[in-house]
Amino acid sequence: MYSHLFSKITVGGKELKNRLTMAPLYLGYAGEGGTVSELFLDHYRLMAKSGVGMVVVENATVDYPTGSGSNRTLRADTDENMEGLTRLATTIKKQGAIACQQINHAGRFAAIADPALAPSAVQTFGRMPRPLTKDEMRKIAKKFAEAAVRLKKAGFDMVELHGGTGYLLSSFVSPRTNKRDDEYGGSPQNRQRFPLEVVQEVKAAVGDFPVGYRFLADEWLPDGLNLAESVEYGKALAGAGVAYISVMGGTYESFFLPHVIQASGKDGYMVELAAAVKKAVNVPVITAGRISTGAIAESALAEGKADLIGLARVLWADPDWPSKVKEGRENEIIHCASECDDTCTKLVTKGKLAFCVRWNHDKLQEWKGKRA
Ligand SMILES: Cc1cc2nc3c(=O)[nH]c(=O)nc-3n(C[C@H](O)[C@H](O)[C@H](O)COP(=O)(O)O)c2cc1C
Repeated sequence: MYSHLFSKITVGGKELKNRLTMAPLYLGYAGEGGTVSELFLDHYRLMAKSGVGMVVVENATVDYPTGSGSNRTLRADTDENMEGLTRLATTIKKQGAIACQQINHAGRFAAIADPALAPSAVQTFGRMPRPLTKDEMRKIAKKFAEAAVRLKKAGFDMVELHGGTGYLLSSFVSPRTNKRDDEYGGSPQNRQRFPLEVVQEVKAAVGDFPVGYRFLADEWLPDGLNLAESVEYGKALAGAGVAYISVMGGTYESFFLPHVIQASGKDGYMVELAAAVKKAVNVPVITAGRISTGAIAESALAEGKADLIGLARVLWADPDWPSKVKEGRENEIIHCASECDDTCTKLVTKGKLAFCVRWNHDKLQEWKGKRA
């Protein structure tokens, strides 16, 4: 029935069995200090088993502690995690999904760094980050490259650079958080310079290995990055050879604004952002954001608004979403409910492990057992 959704596609030279991907979803399941825990492995085994063509594992830090979102953020900055990362890649691939690992520097939102590091000293949630020197920026670009090489060695099929959520790469692109007066600030081209250098550094280090990009299309803040400017950045990324662009909107500073909460409660709320980017680039584009039904996914693809679908909370709330859609059992889908007031986000921002309010009693008990 959904002929676009269940058709194959090649991304960065790798064939995906369908257009469904798991979009990165940090849930606090890594062990203390960012290790691959049994809970983490079980979770990703289930996500890969769901039938999606590709799993993009939640953000892993390239630099600890200054790049780390929390003490339970996976670490890709150390060979000490090689065994765990290898098990993770193997676990995902065994279920027939392409394994992609997202890598990140949390920048001004690095919870365990004091001070946090950023393009400029622009306060966030009462904390003032310290502006990076050019030498530090070069080192961070190298750390991204080293992490990507590590993940290639661990057996992942590709990596994704996290250029969303207001973390370091997107904070350089944003006119709101980048107030630098050197060649890395000011004009859009200058603000895009550092993340593009990171892309180049990573690509040079990994060679023939696909590098995707999580893309901030709109900050949803009056003085923030807007779509007109980000589309130009999308063109530059495609020109730099990224394997795909995975579009999202918002940062921690906009996610919780009442009008953003309301808008992001709607099905397919980021599809039009992806459509604008897709019009401008010649690489595959992923759209995510409450893709609740097969029909929403299929129409985004059929209307040429995206090439791939990203499911984050949607898949976590119901790992049988792909099979229920494929088998015409959509009425059985357990939907991620906006009425829950984003319990999962609130739990992880408080440093807790996330559970889904839509899970049934048995599933919750099973999770509690594994969490312990
Ligand atoms: C709790 C939570 C954690 C997230 N973690 C990440 C992440 O690590 N990396 C990322 O790029 N996006 C992350 N996202 C954004 C999701 O990938 C996705 O874009 C968003 O949740 C919308 O899709 P959905 O409605 O299917 O959840 C996260 C979202 C939530 C709610």
